[in-house]
Parts: sequence; C-alpha cells; structure tokens
Amino acid sequence: MAIGWRLAQAGVPVAIYERGEAGHGASWAAAGMLAAGVETEPGEHDLAVLNRRGLALWPEFAAELEQASGLSVDLRREGTLVIALTRDDAAQLRFTFDFQREHGIALEWLSAREALAREPRLNPSLAAAVYSPGDCQADNRMLVRALKRAFLAAGGTLHEHAPVDAIEVAAGRVTGLRIGETRAAAATVVLAAGAWSGEIEGLPVAARAPVRPVKGQMLALKMDPAAPLLRHVVWAPRAYLVPRHDGRLVVGATSEEKGFNADLTAGGVFALLEGAWRALPGVEELPIEEMWVGFRPGSRDDAPLLGPSAVAGLVQATGHHRNGILLAPITADLVARYLLSGEIDPAMAPFAPTRFAPKVQA
Ligand code: GLY
Repeated sequence: MAIGWRLAQAGVPVAIYERGEAGHGASWAAAGMLAAGVETEPGEHDLAVLNRRGLALWPEFAAELEQASGLSVDLRREGTLVIALTRDDAAQLRFTFDFQREHGIALEWLSAREALAREPRLNPSLAAAVYSPGDCQADNRMLVRALKRAFLAAGGTLHEHAPVDAIEVAAGRVTGLRIGETRAAAATVVLAAGAWSGEIEGLPVAARAPVRPVKGQMLALKMDPAAPLLRHVVWAPRAYLVPRHDGRLVVGATSEEKGFNADLTAGGVFALLEGAWRALPGVEELPIEEMWVGFRPGSRDDAPLLGPSAVAGLVQATGHHRNGILLAPITADLVARYLLSGEIDPAMAPFAPTRFAPKVQA
C-alpha cells in the first residue's frame, strides 16, 4: 500500500489486489518497532545501511501520511532499551553494543540504576542496559489503516478478498494477473505479497520469489493507559515489549520455521510470557487482550528483494523479514522511483531479486 500510495500520488493508475483485508498480513501482526540500531547484526552491512536510511525517512513519512489520511500512526520517539538480566546477558550485550557503536549507531551504556531510573518497573535485579535513542516505534495497525485511506484518497483502486492466482507472462514479459475467473491486463506488476510471494503461479523459476514464512507468535496485554508499566520499547533476552498509548503492551515474538502453521502453542505463549515476566514482573497482573500468529516473509539471506526481476515488467518488493514496517517508507520510495524513472538507487542495488536466480552452467 505504501508503494501504491506513492505511485497514485504521482498520477499513475494503480490497482492493488489483496488476498484478504489490506494490511492484515505481517503488517497487522507486527509490533511496529523501528529498530534500525539495535537489530543491526554482524554480516548484514548492506541491510544495516538500508535500515538506517529507512528509519531516517520515518518522521517525514509519518507526518505526510497523517496529513494525507487524517489518521495518526502514533510514531513514538522515547527510544529503546535493551536489557541484560544476568551477567552472561550483560557480556553478550557488551559485545553487541561495541559492534553496533563501531557501525556508528548512537547508543548509551546504562548501569542497572540508570536503566531503572528510566523504567522503574523493570526487574530490579537487571544487570545492565543499552539505550538507543534513535530506535522508536509506530502503531502498525494504525499505519495500515492510514495507508489504505491515503492510497484511496490519492486515486488508487483496492480489490480486497481478491487473491491473485497467477501472474501472466508472455515472451518474457508480464501481461497481467489472473484473479479467479477474472483477468486484469498490466504491463507492470509489483509483487509485494509478503510470505505468500512465492505461492503465486505463472512465473518461470528464475523470477519466483524465494520467500518462506517465518512464524511468529505474539500477544498483547492490557495496561492501565493512565499508569503504563513502560514507556520505552524494551528488548529483553527472551521477549520484546512494546507499549502503546492505548494501554496495549505488545509482547513478541517467537521465530519458527513451521510453514504456514498458524497454531498458537503452549510452548510459544509460555516463552513469551516468561520472557516478559522476567523483564517486567508487573505483567503478572495484566489481562491478556489478544494472542496471534504472523508470518514474516524470509528470503534465503533474510534480506528483502527489491527491484526488477528476471521477467520484464515484474518488480519485486518482498522478503522484508523482521523489518517490514521499518522499511515501508524507503521501499515505497525506491520502488516507486524505479517505476517512474528507471533509476536503481545504490541503496536498492544489493537487494536485486536476481541475486537468487539459478546460475546457468556454461
Ligand atoms: N521485528 C520483530 C519481529 O520480527 O519479531
């Protein structure tokens, strides 16, 4: 929808075909963390650069979207705390802190006392913490509602409950979509079907998106909005906690290779509740408001697929794995710019979908 909004704003006729309700896949399941700093891991240099550029776009994107839609996305900029509960956790945290600082991420090492001064309801026996002022959050469900409204207001067409069965290709070019008995002609198609991107028929092997579902179980607890237990996003060793202004405390997430199995399991929910309780003992008293499962779209290297593919006219914007909300604004800008001008931004080049195409033996 972010890509569609950008294209519709530029006057391009654009129709979105959505298998269910728009924005109700991983975008709905997500926690909305904009964690370009604390999620930076060794070996992911290009992705870290993209994530940080993506984060930098967020404030302006949120303001423009709120203006266009008349709806808030609740961008919150209190920052993020990563906490260590044991000495082992603290040693691990120190390693990550040093690595992330070497990559230019602004982070502050906090003693237990300093962390508790920021978040007094955290476990008082915590060992240490890191404060990341740049990592923030938006309410992903408010975001998709706003995107839907802005997309429609800009002149886009949205077909919900209209699953695309096949992308039609002739002589190496996209010609349209098949949706049940209906055919929609199109010279350009953007494949942005998240974890389902590899399921759509019609594409030759070289242009299929090698994306798998990475299952995440999550839950939301209900805090008193007038006296929330937390204000910052908190990453604890076995769960993350994301407080919303309406009192919801989102707790996530498992990461499981179970295909599209959508079961909530005793083990998954137990792990989340235990991880949350160890970090923030006060959760014990909170009602459980909701539990759900989502499917992150994971590619073979866990980085996104952005840009033209092996089929002319087919552009991919998928495989965002843990970073779909963070990368929505930059994905929309990069893909829309490519479609409007043919320009492949250097930030997009490392994520070419063609990097996964089978190599032809000489
Ligand atoms: N970005 C958080 C998650 O994927 O669980």
